[in-house]
Amino acid sequence: MENIIAEINKLKISKKAVILSHNYQLPEIQDIADFVGDSLELSRNAADTDANIIVFCGVNFMAETAKILSPKKTVLLPDLRSGCPLADMVTPDDIKKLREENPGAEVVCYINTSAEVKAECDICCTSSNAVDIVNSVNSDMVIFLPDRNLGNYVSKHTKKKMIIWNGYCPTHENLKIEDVLEMKKLYPNAKFVAHPECTEDVLKLADKITSTSGIIKYVKTDPSKDFIIGTETAILHRLKKESPEKNFIPASRKMYCPNMKYNNLESLYESLLNEEPEMEVPEKIRQKAYLTIKKMLDVSKIIVS
Ligand code: 13P
Repeated sequence: MENIIAEINKLKISKKAVILSHNYQLPEIQDIADFVGDSLELSRNAADTDANIIVFCGVNFMAETAKILSPKKTVLLPDLRSGCPLADMVTPDDIKKLREENPGAEVVCYINTSAEVKAECDICCTSSNAVDIVNSVNSDMVIFLPDRNLGNYVSKHTKKKMIIWNGYCPTHENLKIEDVLEMKKLYPNAKFVAHPECTEDVLKLADKITSTSGIIKYVKTDPSKDFIIGTETAILHRLKKESPEKNFIPASRKMYCPNMKYNNLESLYESLLNEEPEMEVPEKIRQKAYLTIKKMLDVSKIIVS
């Protein structure tokens, strides 16, 4: 283990590479990464880095987003099996049909979509900026896809009429209301923090609804000691590391995303050594998808500042 970590670090320097990791990656991947974050932070990082190579430890739509934003850089995804079932739930044809059925509506896609889907949409969003992005569009009618729970959550914070696609994240929908009630009984003083991909009945029980990095920030400033965490369990690694004085309880051990666990130290090492598997996006698709993501980055910059 020590050896492989040293080898990865050597390769990283000699090849001027940067390792980006999502908050759901294995602990050892998070620990070796140059940056660990949520989808918005990772795409900002991928857009701004001056590294020659981006090794993206996350799932494929995330690495694809990095390639769309940094087309001249080599973007590696250590294990191509790292898919996203939610992203696979909507196709470009679905969007064409939705546009025909809802003339004048603008299409907002969650970042959990393929490059081909992004290319058909007007603007992208992540879980941390979805409300602001929907409120920023010109039309009063918004087609939101693919996550029904995030879409439903946003619809409660906007006056826009929303047409919501019926996709969902299997990992977040694994969390049931009974699981949360049981944990709340065991830890009556705990705050329950949930990701907006959880179902509406679960979200009703939440003290805070936010993105993965939003959860990490929230627990640092909230005075409570105990937190029930309603998102993928690998986030507990960073939570414990950055807030060791607090107590984190997974809302359910069933909140496990197998796709996020394909990347490991061995595949990361092989990937950096051989510079493969490399993410590729056909240029015509990339240019259109770029506009969709760039619009989001511009709007979220205005909102942050
Ligand atoms: P975040 O943007 O909150 O990290 O969410 C990404 C994701 O895929 C959640 O399932």
